[in-house]
Amino acid sequence: MLNKKTVDDISVNGKRVLVRCDFNVPIKDGKITDETRIVGALPTIKKLINDGGKIILCSHMGKPKGEPVPELSLAPVAERLSQHLGMNVIFAADNEVVGENAKKAVAEMNNGEVVLLQNTRYRKEETKNEENFSKELASLADVFVNDAFGSAHRAHCSTVGVSDYVDVSVAGYLMAKEIKFLGDAVNNPVRPLVAILGGSKVSSKISVINNLLEKVDTLIIGGGMAYTFMVALGYNVGTSLLEADYVEYAKEMMAKAKEKGVKLLIPVDTVVAQEFDNDAASKVVPEGGIEDGWMGLDIGPKTIEIFSEAVKDAKTVVWNGPMGVFEMPNFAKGTNAIASVLAEIDATTIIGGGDSVAAVNQAGLGDKMSHISTGGGASLEYLEGKELPGIACLD
Ligand code: 3PG
Repeated sequence: MLNKKTVDDISVNGKRVLVRCDFNVPIKDGKITDETRIVGALPTIKKLINDGGKIILCSHMGKPKGEPVPELSLAPVAERLSQHLGMNVIFAADNEVVGENAKKAVAEMNNGEVVLLQNTRYRKEETKNEENFSKELASLADVFVNDAFGSAHRAHCSTVGVSDYVDVSVAGYLMAKEIKFLGDAVNNPVRPLVAILGGSKVSSKISVINNLLEKVDTLIIGGGMAYTFMVALGYNVGTSLLEADYVEYAKEMMAKAKEKGVKLLIPVDTVVAQEFDNDAASKVVPEGGIEDGWMGLDIGPKTIEIFSEAVKDAKTVVWNGPMGVFEMPNFAKGTNAIASVLAEIDATTIIGGGDSVAAVNQAGLGDKMSHISTGGGASLEYLEGKELPGIACLD
């Protein structure tokens, strides 16, 4: 449960409301390729429009490292927001974010109007949470609403610092919804609770295991991180993704699972190829059968069966990270199979992490899941049991 004030607890009529969203959306050739985060922000924005606020939206996109990078401009987001809201969202295209355009646009706002600021990471102070930029952002607003769950693990000016310089700081609906689903899943789950972890960010995912082993009934490990566990079991993994520094940790986690009575599942067969290429010749090898020069790119058919069986009777499932290189159709079978099983079972299903969300959407199964999280790193850190600074700073 979120023990913070939300937009339902405040009155914004006539007030300038700075809303931090997470509009860090994927863009290809100037077009947004996944709008989950934009759509996720709409309920809060619409509520504030209806309540007569003057809404100033802000977000980062990508990592421009403190300088203007035209490809990382939020202009395409303003365009899509205008379409979704059926009104003109004014884009304040200031390279310094809080510049002349932004100040003028905000000064001229009527109640219910919306302005979007430029990418907050065009400013080098942003990621260092430096006072001057926090104050500049705060100078535009009377109220701060943080609805950027996806960035809540970052203590930056626009997610945390600004809250020191406004009188009121509350959570938006998306933030509240994310915390409700993720919080209930790990702190108050209907059991059995199954977590499925995968993806290539091995080290960042491995650290979540420790916390999840305290909570879940079954932990399934697939994708890139599984190879570290295979090495821990003494298997060769060829040229598959491996973080050698984490092999000992993987051993410890396997021992912990045993001690806690948690079922820990790793792949029993693997689809391998000699090149990282969709068209590379591939074959399925059994547990321990990855030869030198070959890399695992997906879980095999037996593993799909075992993993599917393990989630069938679950009442709560948390999934973060694909089972293989799902961007390549020939190595997407494992990920798609898991998505299909989750779409069918009678359980609360929560999908987190950009890649698993993209996989579920790509399979057209998004609306079959109970909750699609807009947080990648944030949902992981939440699952690690960490306090997220972007939530902690709210009233
Ligand atoms: C994300 O995509 O996870 C968030 O938008 C945070 O982005 P970051 O990892 O660049 O801080």
